[in-house]
Parts: sequence; structure tokens; C-alpha cells
Amino acid sequence: MKILLFGKNGQLGWELQQTLAPLGELYAVGRAELDLQDLSALAAFIRERRPQVIVNASAYTAVDRAEQERELAFQINAHVPRVMAETAHSLKAVLIHYSTDYVFDGGLGRPYIESDAPNPLNMYGHSKLAGEQAIRQIGGAYLILRAAWVYSLRGDGFVRKVLQWSRSQSVLKIVSDQVSNPTWARSLAEITSSLFANTRNDFLNYVQEKAGIYHLAGSGCASRLEWAREILEFDPRKEEQAARELLPALTSDFPTPARRPLFSALNCSRFERTFHLSLPNWKESLRLAMKPVQ
Ligand SMILES: NC(=O)c1ccc[n+]([C@@H]2O[C@H](COP(=O)([O-])OP(=O)(O)OC[C@H]3O[C@@H](n4cnc5c(N)ncnc54)[C@H](OP(=O)(O)O)[C@@H]3O)[C@@H](O)[C@H]2O)c1
Repeated sequence: MKILLFGKNGQLGWELQQTLAPLGELYAVGRAELDLQDLSALAAFIRERRPQVIVNASAYTAVDRAEQERELAFQINAHVPRVMAETAHSLKAVLIHYSTDYVFDGGLGRPYIESDAPNPLNMYGHSKLAGEQAIRQIGGAYLILRAAWVYSLRGDGFVRKVLQWSRSQSVLKIVSDQVSNPTWARSLAEITSSLFANTRNDFLNYVQEKAGIYHLAGSGCASRLEWAREILEFDPRKEEQAARELLPALTSDFPTPARRPLFSALNCSRFERTFHLSLPNWKESLRLAMKPVQ
């Protein structure tokens, strides 16, 4: 199987490089190989390689900056997936794409299911929703996997930030009114690759039959405060922590350019029922993610 992976240097893309490699001929692409802003180059690039599967882990993920860089956010999060879907469709290839809990406004009061109406609060969410809509309109063999609060120990996400703050501040104030599902990039990459193992040779028909949007995030949910508490607990170098107190704060205490949904946890039952696979509990994944490498 010939697999074309975009976004190879991102949190998820880097992990997908490891988990997809044993499944076939993997061609992993980063910005150095192709700048995705050039849409006609993108279509030609895919056609030349004639993949059977395209996995799109690339995205514009700077949530606050997207309020200013609206056009760029839509280019990468809406137009790029559209071109990928069109090209995949014409090549009879599968497209696996990722989206976000930020397509929701967070006001529902229970974990979201796929049929709940999206209503993004910020430009990032709008651009990701436009990407979903473009792929659905084109149709074919596609899976849109909506994740939430994706983290890895590489890069500069929430886990690394909490560890850094804990080294320099004696009191940490973390918001307790934002709730979702912390999702380890590695476990998301592993479960994506497990989808291939569900079928032998006919991945195209298998995905075509099940095409659609699925919620796929760490099982269980947590507030940012609860997440931070566990990060400090699993910190392999606890003795370096200067933080003595962890206090709850409100989202409104830290104004940001982009509004964030308050309760955007995802219910992943549809994915579990359809593919007989599920992600581990978020705390268990975090413990593994933070385990020191022996
Ligand atoms: N992070 C989260 O909390 C979160 C939550 C829910 C859903 N998701 C979704 O999960 C997926 C993976 O997210 P992630 O956290 O792994 O993202 P990430 O770490 O920000 O990685 C995104 C990748 O896209 C690449 N990219 C962006 N613009 C590009 C361009 N013009 N040309 C070529 N490459 C470009 C980036 O390249 P460079 O490395 O060169 O910049 C980066 O490697 C995305 O669809 C995201 O929307 C993420």
C-alpha cells in the first residue's frame, strides 16, 4: 500500500511517521518538500505519486493568530483538504483527515456527538469546519477524525508549558472552566494505523462504506486544571518543581484574541461501535507519555 502523509513534522504527523511506516510504502511530506499554500503544486504532487491512501496531519493550528491570519488559516485548513479530497477521489484513494472539537461552541453541557450542530467561536474553528464541509461535499472514501486537546512531549503544547511554568513559578493558576479530552498524539497515530489492520486488501471499499465524521479523542474528560494536576503528578523530574500551589482560574482571567469553547468534550461511541477500537483513558495515556525513556 502506498501512503502519502502530509504534516510529518507536527505533533501528530511525527507520530504517524512511526506508526504508518510498517504498513507499506510511506512517503512523508513536510513544509521543506512542499509548501501547502501552493494548491496547484499540491494536486500535481499527489497525482505524480499516485498514493492509495492520503493521511493529512497538516493544519494551521495557531488558534489566536488565526484571528489575524484568516486567509492563511482557510488556505491550509479548508482549501488544502478540498484539493486533497478532489485528488484522492479522482485517483480512487482513501483520505484520512483530522478535525477538532473547536468546531463546537461548548455550550451544550454534555459531550458532543457527530450529529450535534457545529458553531465555531473562532476563525480556527471556522476554517476547520470549512475543511470538513469541503471533504464531505466531494465524498468518496474519506474519514474525518475529530480530535481534541492533542499533545505530545515534543513541541510547545500545554504539557510542556505546564512543566516550564512549574519550574519558574511558585503558584500556578490554571483555568478550570475549559473541559475537553486530552489526546496523546502517539495514541491517535496508533489507532489511525490500527484502522488499516481492520481490513486486509480492500481498504478503499472498507473506508467508502464507513465514510464520514467520527469523534476520536482520549477517553474521559478533564478541565485544564485537572490535566495540569496530573502533569505535575507524572512529572519524571518532580524535584525540579518550584510550584507549591495549583489554583483554579477562569477563562475570563486570561483574555486571548480567540474565544475558546468551555465544554467541548467529544463522545467517541460512534467510532468505537464502527471500528471496534477505542483510545485509552486520558490519564493512562498521559502517564505513559510522561514516563522517562529508559
Ligand atoms: N493541537 C491540538 O490541540 C488539536 C486539537 C484538536 C484537533 N487537532 C487537529 O489535529 C491535527 C494535527 O494537529 P497537530 O497538533 O499535530 O498540529 P501541528 O503540530 O501544528 O502540526 C501541523 C503541521 O502542519 C504543517 N503545516 C502548516 N502549514 C503548512 C504549510 N503551508 N505547508 C506545509 N506544511 C504546513 C506544519 O508544518 P511546520 O512544522 O513546518 O510548521 C506542522 O508540521 C490537525 O488537523 C489539528 O487541527 C489538533
